[in-house]
Amino acid sequence: MNSRFDFLKINEQLDERRAENVFRSCACIEERHGTEIRIDGRDYINFCSNDYLGLSSDPDLMKAWKEGIDIWGCGSGASPLVTGLTRAHRELQDEIKDWLGVEEVILFNSGFAANQAVVKALNGRNTVIYADRLAHASLQEASVLSGARYVRFLHNDPVSLQGKLAPRTGMIITEGVFSMDGDEAPLAEIRKLAEGSGNIFFLDDAHGFGVHGAEGKGTVSRQGLRHRDIDVVMGTFGKALGTSGAFVAGSREFIDYMINFSREYIYSTHMAPNVAHATRKAVRIVRERDELREELRAKVDYFRSRIAQLSLTVSQSTTSIQPIIIGSSEKALQWSGKLKSFGCYVSAIRHPTVPKNTARLRVTVTANHSYEQIDKLTEGLSSCQQLQ
Ligand SMILES: Cc1ncc(COP(=O)(O)O)c(C=O)c1O
Repeated sequence: MNSRFDFLKINEQLDERRAENVFRSCACIEERHGTEIRIDGRDYINFCSNDYLGLSSDPDLMKAWKEGIDIWGCGSGASPLVTGLTRAHRELQDEIKDWLGVEEVILFNSGFAANQAVVKALNGRNTVIYADRLAHASLQEASVLSGARYVRFLHNDPVSLQGKLAPRTGMIITEGVFSMDGDEAPLAEIRKLAEGSGNIFFLDDAHGFGVHGAEGKGTVSRQGLRHRDIDVVMGTFGKALGTSGAFVAGSREFIDYMINFSREYIYSTHMAPNVAHATRKAVRIVRERDELREELRAKVDYFRSRIAQLSLTVSQSTTSIQPIIIGSSEKALQWSGKLKSFGCYVSAIRHPTVPKNTARLRVTVTANHSYEQIDKLTEGLSSCQQLQ
């Protein structure tokens, strides 16, 4: 049957994906209770969520979310420069400023939007972007759209970066914790190169915020640096903080520039005020409850000790993100299917999200997994090995 989209060859592209075992579709979560989810009437333990501290179902945070609706209603109703920025947003900004010791903060509806905003506002045909080759899709996409020359350096390799840098030409981009590998960037070395070359350092710490460092301040703090030492830092709320949205922190002049020139900020309805209200509570919980991070660390250590007994290819990651590299997409799907039969849900991450032949099970261990649940996963993984 002819499709309206024939001339764009969308079916050919979808068929190609099916043939290469990289076709994607969304599972619908019918019910969710902490780490337990129901899909198509079957119950699973969720081992692929970024809710690292389990805050999305924290009773205090849920209460704050509802309280925010009682105070503010639902949507913000306007972009921030019109009437979309409420006291709830301002209080969240102030809380983050106090937490991280930074000059100014702005809020976005997602980390994806925040990354687009920063990269596109500061770059154009006359700048160069130096990005880690494993930088997140939102950063890669924004770099291409910005029109800047896009230069990739070897993953976590300051020597490779140094070899490519030219003075005062643009922006260096990396991540605190890499989303698909769980490893950390060497921030002090990269910062030194940024300073020495007069280039801007932009850090995406989506997966480090809340989880790492004193008071959960993130990878910057874990590595003994201060947020003020880095020109621009982005953090998300949809992962460890359990809500949704993101912030960008930097100097007053930089944030003023974003407010005046970032199209993603100016031309988009602002974050709902109840989300801002609840996220302020989430920041407080993260700051105060060290025991959540301790719990997480203990669970990650336990998982690593359990899988050390299986001869699997695992990364050196000590974070929640514990990828198990499988290789082919077909095999990754097989393993993911087998784990489902054990009641464990771990999606297979395949090309183009990760390089070809590095398909993986991106296991995430969270603070609210039980040790029994982790045992179940390792049992499942052991059984997957029989598939070889
Ligand atoms: C490294 C990184 N940056 C940014 C984002 C986007 O954040 P958000 O999910 O809030 O849009 C993600 C999301 O997966 C990510 O992994």
